[in-house]
Amino acid sequence: MGNISQEQVHGSEALAGYSDKISEALDTHLSYLLAPEERKMLRRFSVREVARFLKLNENTFRHYIKNADGRMPIGELVGGNRRMFKAEDIDNIRQFLFNDGKIAPEAYPRRQGDQKLNVLCTFNLKGGVSKTSSAILVAQLLGLRGHRVLCIDLDPQASMSDIFQVRPDIDGSPSIYEALRYNDPETGSGPKSMRDVIQKTYFHNVDIAASEMMLTEFEYETAISFKTGMGGEPFHRRMSAAITSVEADYDVVVFDTPPQLSFSVISALFASTGLIIPLNASMLDSMSLGKFLGMAGDLMKAVESSSRKKDYDFIRFLITRFEPTDSPQVQMAGFLRTIFSGAVLKQEFLKSTVISDASNSNNTVMELEPSSFTRKSYDRLMDSVELIVDELEELCFAARHRSAREAAAENSHSDDNARRAS
Ligand SMILES: Nc1ncnc2c1ncn2[C@@H]1O[C@H](COP(=O)(O)OP(=O)(O)OP(=O)(O)O)[C@@H](O)[C@H]1O
Ligand SMILES: [Mg+2]
Repeated sequence: MGNISQEQVHGSEALAGYSDKISEALDTHLSYLLAPEERKMLRRFSVREVARFLKLNENTFRHYIKNADGRMPIGELVGGNRRMFKAEDIDNIRQFLFNDGKIAPEAYPRRQGDQKLNVLCTFNLKGGVSKTSSAILVAQLLGLRGHRVLCIDLDPQASMSDIFQVRPDIDGSPSIYEALRYNDPETGSGPKSMRDVIQKTYFHNVDIAASEMMLTEFEYETAISFKTGMGGEPFHRRMSAAITSVEADYDVVVFDTPPQLSFSVISALFASTGLIIPLNASMLDSMSLGKFLGMAGDLMKAVESSSRKKDYDFIRFLITRFEPTDSPQVQMAGFLRTIFSGAVLKQEFLKSTVISDASNSNNTVMELEPSSFTRKSYDRLMDSVELIVDELEELCFAARHRSAREAAAENSHSDDNARRAS
């Protein structure tokens, strides 16, 4: 009996106590890992890696380096023989090669003219299906390939913000909540501009609008706005409005969403142009997928009844944590491919200890030296990530070109009208 009474604890105090303990221990652990700088710094990249980011054959790239003649950065020799590049260098090299006609306009990562912004959203109500891992790796690799990327973290648990070391709830910096919030009728204070919410990260070309627990306030405020009928822009258009205000600064936006259908997630769904649905190739996940897709469809329909229909450039399923040697998974993946045919990305995101090893030190696989891992496992995993991003990038380019064509057609149509009118 004595044991049982000893087990009795005061709930709120105990939970708060555990919370303090883990936060303190993690702070010590992470500052030890990051010492002496404390802040993360992006590593340098080898000739082989840079050639891949530039989509050049490695020998061709070496040839360009040899003949650079001071016209493009050629990195720095480390240890006498290894040439290493800063991420900023890669952009300058790409620009030089583009101007020199060595990179085709179709492969140029910056949006041109009337090309639209690609807004990608990882989305699945199932927890732990690699939504955050996929969103971060896609954002980071697109950044290294020269796209200007804005990450928007919509998970109040803020894992994506943690990786990028932007913590509004700790350092008091603004979160995405500040850009979405409604006018406060008592104080009269309104949302912050999106530009004031976005922060640069240590990862070149990747900025973030971070998350925090406070984001859940948006849910209460939205519910109140339904009752009072006040609040300005309706909830489902608030995210688009925030993004539109900074659109010119970016090529791709990448949302990370929590495994819940919150108002902020629905607002992201209406702001997105491409959906990525990560899922494990397992029977249980596939069974819950039907319910999740039905629920998401119904909710969007309800919002559409008072608004315009929402179209996407693409919706793609991404099979995650995939083990090619596990035959039930292979079977399930085949089954999903048959049902959804072209909507499943060809490349699976492989399950790998490389991902879990990296995440133990709060890093992504892109940030650590390849030599930190077993070479074979690293290459296998990176090949899978690169092929996934190849497919997504191609879909983004296709959407950009289509939008530019449509804009041109519209312009010539209005020119015709103007001529007819005059
Ligand atoms: N391909 C992979 N191989 C091995 N481990 C992985 C892989 N992808 C993700 N993980 C690990 O699985 C866990 C869950 O992944 P992640 O956080 O990306 O999922 P999530 O869908 O965002 O989860 P949540 O629904 O909680 O937001 C993490 O610990 C992550 O490191
Ligand atoms: Mg997540």
